Amino acid sequence: MSEKISVDAQALVTLNDGHVMPQLGLGVWRTPPAETARVVRLAVELGYRSVDTARHYENEDGVGEGLEGHPEVFVTTKLWNAEQGYDRALKAFDESARLLRRPIPDLFLIHWPMPTQGQYVETWKALVQLKKDGRVKSIGVSNFEAEHLERIMDATGVAPVVNQIELHPEFQQRELRVFNARHDIRTEAWRPLGKGRALEDPRVCEIAARHGKTPAQVVIRWHLQSGLIVIPKSANPGRLAENIDVFDFTLHSADMEAIDAMDRAEGRMCAHPMTAEF
Ligand SMILES: NC(=O)c1ccc[n+]([C@@H]2O[C@H](COP(=O)([O-])OP(=O)(O)OC[C@H]3O[C@@H](n4cnc5c(N)ncnc54)[C@H](OP(=O)(O)O)[C@@H]3O)[C@@H](O)[C@H]2O)c1
Repeated sequence: MSEKISVDAQALVTLNDGHVMPQLGLGVWRTPPAETARVVRLAVELGYRSVDTARHYENEDGVGEGLEGHPEVFVTTKLWNAEQGYDRALKAFDESARLLRRPIPDLFLIHWPMPTQGQYVETWKALVQLKKDGRVKSIGVSNFEAEHLERIMDATGVAPVVNQIELHPEFQQRELRVFNARHDIRTEAWRPLGKGRALEDPRVCEIAARHGKTPAQVVIRWHLQSGLIVIPKSANPGRLAENIDVFDFTLHSADMEAIDAMDRAEGRMCAHPMTAEF
C-alpha cells in the first residue's frame, strides 16, 4: 500500500554555503559524447533538474549543449586527477566552464583525492579561491575519506558542500556518512544502482513487486528517503523516465530496514580512494 509522498522531483537540499541542489539528478558517466546532448535534453523534458558530469567523462560539451536555454538546471563537474595542483586546477576549471557554456557553474568537485600525488590540499585551495572570486557557486569533493576531509578543512577552514562517494545498497558507507553529516557536508551517492547489480537482489525485487514499482525505483527511493543526493545514470529513454518516476510511493520502515540490511563490508565495486591509481 502506498503512503503519502514525502519527497518530490524538485526536492532541494540546502548546502552548507546556503545554495540549494536538487536531491535527484542524472549521471552521465559513459554516456557517449555524441549522444550526451540528446540524452540531457530528454532528461530535462522528463523533469530532471540536475546533471552530474566530469572532465574525465569527455562529455561536458554535450551537457553544455543539452542544457542550452536551461540555466535553471543545476550542473556539477569535476576536476580530473591529472589536473590537480593550484595553477592547473584554475586552468582546468576555466576549460570546464567553457565546455559547459556556464560562466558560473553550480558545483565543482575534486574527482579523487589521489593521496599518492600529494596535491589535494593545494587543489582545494584553488577551489576555495574560485568560490571567493565568485567563479563557481559551490565547491566540493568526491571519493574523499575522513582523513582527506580533515586535512583540507584544517588547511582552509572551508568544508566542501558535498562528498560524492560510491554508495549503493551493498555498500552503504555508514561511517563516512556520519563523518560528513557531523561537518555539514552532504553525502552524494554515485553508482546508486550498483550499476544494475542491486536490482537483481530478491529483497529489492520483492519490495518492488509489493509497491507495483521497479527494482530501480525502489533503490532510488531508498536513497532519497535515506537523505542522500542521488544521480542514477541512464542513456535509455525508458529507463530515464523510470528513474525519475519515484514520487508516487513511499517505502515503509520495514522496507528501508530490509535494504539497510543489504550492506556488506566487501561491497565496494570501484577502487579504494586511498590506493586508486588512474
Ligand atoms: N565521483 C566518481 O568517482 C563517480 C564514479 C562513478 C560514477 N559517478 C557518477 O555517478 C553516476 C551514476 O553511477 P554509474 O553510472 O556508475 O552507475 P549506476 O547509476 O548505479 O548504474 C548505471 C547502469 O545501470 C543501468 N540502468 C540505469 N537505470 C536502470 C534501470 N531503471 N533499470 C535497469 N538498469 C538501469 C544503466 O544502463 P542504461 O544507460 O543502458 O540505462 C547503466 O548501465 C555516473 O553516471 C556519474 O555521474 C561518479
